[in-house]
Amino acid sequence: TRPQSMRGLKLLISAGPTREPLDPVRYITNRSSGKMGYAIAEAAQQAGADVTLVSGPVNIPVPDNIHVVKVETAQQMFDAVMNQAHRCDIYIGAAAVADYRPAQIQDHKIKKQHADNIIELTQNPDIIASVAGLPKKPFVVGFAAETDDLANYASQKLHSKNLDMIAANWVGQSEGGFDSDHNALQVFWPGGSQHFAMTDKQYLAHQLVKLITEKFNEKNPA
Ligand code: PMT
Repeated sequence: TRPQSMRGLKLLISAGPTREPLDPVRYITNRSSGKMGYAIAEAAQQAGADVTLVSGPVNIPVPDNIHVVKVETAQQMFDAVMNQAHRCDIYIGAAAVADYRPAQIQDHKIKKQHADNIIELTQNPDIIASVAGLPKKPFVVGFAAETDDLANYASQKLHSKNLDMIAANWVGQSEGGFDSDHNALQVFWPGGSQHFAMTDKQYLAHQLVKLITEKFNEKNPA
């Protein structure tokens, strides 16, 4: 049995992709499977946390003893997260949220002869930055999915989104990242960094939960 290091803490986590509809049958999405976020939700639950998981559309069964809220779009994910965020101690943004959505959702299926029109996009709300901007801010952990210059972009996101910690992963490589059963993380917080080597997402999730607990306790001494 593991030590119940997160006992008494309310943890809110997002996982999976979002789906941004174009018309009744088409949408824009990404390759997130939800595996990373679900693994963290389970690891935190096993560490004693009271876990709520806001999940985009994924093919993973709902885990036992975790409250799951299912959403599709970034706006729905924003609403579900903001509805809970003021009562959580820790927020983890593992979801791959679409930064943009089609400006208009067509009521009817777009016809082939009109499909070469340019799709106009509009920006989605930044969920994690909104959580980090709450007056009673929880401990906020972001993810950064990068194909280049990982350390630089991750540190920029840590500061610009006002996060307590960011877990950066390389994406678009043969191993790890989106949809893989494995991942590696470089975690940054103000003043420090730690590398977790390539392993399965379940073991990685336990390592990350342990580090988050440590840093949460440093920031919130009993
Ligand atoms: O789901 P898997 O297949 O297991 O893959 C895991 C993963 C690669 C998706 C995961 O490890 C990961 O990196 N998730 C974040 C992906 C992402 O969208 O990163 P980003 O660098 O674009 O966003 C940075 C942070 O801002 C993230 O915490 C993201 O959740 C958050 N964000 C982004 C945009 C937005 N509108 N709102 C947000 O909250």
